[in-house]
Amino acid sequence: MTVKVRLHKYIAANGLASRRAAEKMIAEGRIKVNGEIIATAGFTINPAADKVELDDKPIRAKTTKQYILLYKPKGTLTTVSDPFGRATVMELLPHRDVFPVGRLDQDTEGLLILTNDGELTYRLTHPRYKVEKKYLAYVRGTPTEEKLRLLRKGVTLEEGSVSPARVKLVEQHGENSLLMITIHEGKKRQVKRMCSAIGHPVIGLKRVGFAFLTLKGLKPGAYRYLTEEEVNKLIRLAGLHMATHNRL
Ligand code: URA
Repeated sequence: MTVKVRLHKYIAANGLASRRAAEKMIAEGRIKVNGEIIATAGFTINPAADKVELDDKPIRAKTTKQYILLYKPKGTLTTVSDPFGRATVMELLPHRDVFPVGRLDQDTEGLLILTNDGELTYRLTHPRYKVEKKYLAYVRGTPTEEKLRLLRKGVTLEEGSVSPARVKLVEQHGENSLLMITIHEGKKRQVKRMCSAIGHPVIGLKRVGFAFLTLKGLKPGAYRYLTEEEVNKLIRLAGLHMATHNRL
């Protein structure tokens, strides 16, 4: 799939002119595409592949897609709005035009991506693309090696068995323990139900990794924009092609 955008719309979308003024710029021969003057109305380009210049200066593509990494604090809901007026993750962000990629329970904290890139969201959350999500689970008691093996094999929940998880006993705190659990599915309350299934209910849960992303440098409630490089890496990881994936 190649994304085609009308040249005057592309110029306008990048904030250089209104659409009418952009049409005039084209008619005046001020716009080049891949080094050639384009003076035809209605010309279409592929923003990911074509080089557009105004008066011989490149137009830098401004993406209107947003990609945000939030350190979701405990107590907030992963939803765009709540009919009961409870605190949502949206209140922590500068934009209201993004959506959470998957979700974390109200009492779970940690890494949450938010974007308005629907195709990427779909793939990052679909088990087929096997994008890893890493959790630190504070559980009651200390699971035996045998119990941990059950998680590694894939325990059975009410809707059937879940895929094998990577599990490590990180440390013991008195009667309780900290487990590092890596999964690539996103079933409702999955980690909590997996731990309950082996008899060690979760007391506290934090998502510390999503694909190659971590919470490094962020405090609970804080966010940052993903870098261009990180977005491109996610796009590749989700099996999308950078040249054709529409980020405008
Ligand atoms: N698993 C859970 O049980 N809860 C979360 O919030 C995320 C994963």
